[in-house]
Amino acid sequence: MCGIAGYLGPKPADSVLIVALERLKYRGYDSAGLAVMSDGEIHLRRAAGKLKQLSDLIEAQPVDGHCGIAHTRWATHGAPTEINCHPHLASGGPYDGRIAVVHNGIIENHEQLRRELTQAGAIFRSETDTEVIPQLIAHHYRGDALAAVRAAVARLEGSFAFAVVFADHPRRIVAVRQGSPLLVGKGRAYDAGEPAAEGSTASFAKAGRTSVREMLLASDVPALLPHAHQVCFLADGQIADLTDQGLALSDFAGQPVEAEFKAIEVTAEAVSKGSFDSFMAKEIAEQPAVLARLLDSRLRGGALVEPDLGLDLASVNHVVFLAAGTSWHAALLGKRFLEQLARIHVEVDISSEYRYRNPVASGNTLVVAISQSGETADTLAGLRLARAKFIPVVGLVNTVTSTIARESNGVMPLLAGPEIGVASTKAYTAQVLALYLFALQVARAKGLLDAAAEAQAVAAARALPELAATTLASAEEPVEEAADIFAAAQATVFLGRGGEHPTALEGALKLKELAYVHAVGYPAGEFKHGPIALVTSHLPVICLCPRDALYEKMLSNLQEVRARAGRVIAVGQGGDRALRDLSDHLFPVARAGEDLLQPLLSVLPLQRYAYHVARRRNCDVDQPRNLAKSVTVE
Ligand code: F6R
Repeated sequence: MCGIAGYLGPKPADSVLIVALERLKYRGYDSAGLAVMSDGEIHLRRAAGKLKQLSDLIEAQPVDGHCGIAHTRWATHGAPTEINCHPHLASGGPYDGRIAVVHNGIIENHEQLRRELTQAGAIFRSETDTEVIPQLIAHHYRGDALAAVRAAVARLEGSFAFAVVFADHPRRIVAVRQGSPLLVGKGRAYDAGEPAAEGSTASFAKAGRTSVREMLLASDVPALLPHAHQVCFLADGQIADLTDQGLALSDFAGQPVEAEFKAIEVTAEAVSKGSFDSFMAKEIAEQPAVLARLLDSRLRGGALVEPDLGLDLASVNHVVFLAAGTSWHAALLGKRFLEQLARIHVEVDISSEYRYRNPVASGNTLVVAISQSGETADTLAGLRLARAKFIPVVGLVNTVTSTIARESNGVMPLLAGPEIGVASTKAYTAQVLALYLFALQVARAKGLLDAAAEAQAVAAARALPELAATTLASAEEPVEEAADIFAAAQATVFLGRGGEHPTALEGALKLKELAYVHAVGYPAGEFKHGPIALVTSHLPVICLCPRDALYEKMLSNLQEVRARAGRVIAVGQGGDRALRDLSDHLFPVARAGEDLLQPLLSVLPLQRYAYHVARRRNCDVDQPRNLAKSVTVE
């Protein structure tokens, strides 16, 4: 979804902002732009397409200034054209071209506002909902920037975050949060005349300041790096006033609010590709280390360390998982873990469905909101609905500074590190492992896990990092061979039973979103009830066949595909001769010490398969078309 950045400091704003946009582009975008203050004017540079188009434009038409705002746009209202790119300007009145805005979210009453403002003399140039914001601010502006922003915000409906600059206030950025994430970063203080790392402090010296504070603004922490060392997360209903003297925070009524800054823990290296060709490749490879880190935080010797969720887990008898996309697939596995280990009733809900029905709340229900980003709008809305019904919520999140983490009663962190590739990989396996550990925790609280069972479960979990590394290494060659053969296939079917049904769904989602191949996952037992009609000699069918209790059943499904000339790719144990003989290709997977954990390993070659097919089809694996990493609007 759209990304916002802002910079105020001694360095050239355009170059700092371009780096910030680079760090935001993983969120998904189709155009980008920036506004820099220089010589009392606002200078816009905007370009449809990749960020490279914007960088080329800035190189051809540089703009010299030290304060500016920038944006990556993921089109909602209006096509991804230059005219619809942010920043948008006030136009048509006395402040024509003198107020610029970048925005993330949706202004639901934009049509009504557009009509009113047009009647009052504003001239609209784009098809976006965003353009009403600078026009509305200009309508209320009488020289007091904050008063105008407050008056405008009082008329806006929807969920939004925006940043605004005024030509009259060349060293100031005003920003608002109401439903979409926004962060303020604090850099270091510079003495007037002290050279900045790049550029100069000339404009500050001119302003007669003795010292200036470098301030930044962004939708996400990586975009604040490396300049900011501390971050303040705005809450809904807050207005941030950034000047070269620091941050002043207030609420929508104008009452001052104390700003709380925390140290930024993410490093610039964690958000770079390193020696990999893509973030996706890096994140897939990181999985053994990610699993080991999570285990280290949750195990001591042979026993579980229980995170304090502030809840009486023994009394919970009904769990509802809320999630979207890949996180929903992890939730399906969470249901199996909790049912098998803790013997409680579990529902798995797609967040966008849960939020619009009237779910039944019983006294002992617990909602678990699963989200890598912690910002998914539907999951957040589901969480708020649950809390409004007094249901406690645990957030299973990767981004512990996210809104879902902040609004949950208790938090289980995934510790997977920043996930930049749009397709979730390492966060998925971390979610699966975290859900397994959570199920053990609930089972123990309910007295259903004796010491021997706990030690056995912990040993099986402990072995996962090494088994994941072995699987990634041994499956690579067969995966590449199959990708060579099937890269041009128009469709692919994934079949799995039990815990491998979510794996089939996840394998299909990865292939769809990365390689744009029509792919579907089925519970293998359902295949005969219709989908088997799809099988031809052109159809690759990926069958998940670990040596578990349902192995023989899966072999029958595999035979049915072969009997209809389908092309079988099996995912199973490398030494399984029978499976090798029955399939055209075999992706070897190490055997987990506990059947419940097997899907965490089976998914690994499917991630690599999607990656390799996508590469062969010349698809951008880090930023697939039409997708956004954080889905912060409905
Ligand atoms: C697919 C993918 C998405 C996300 C979904 C939820 O690879 O990444 O399906 O899983 O958008 O996102 P989070 O987990 O951030 O709530």
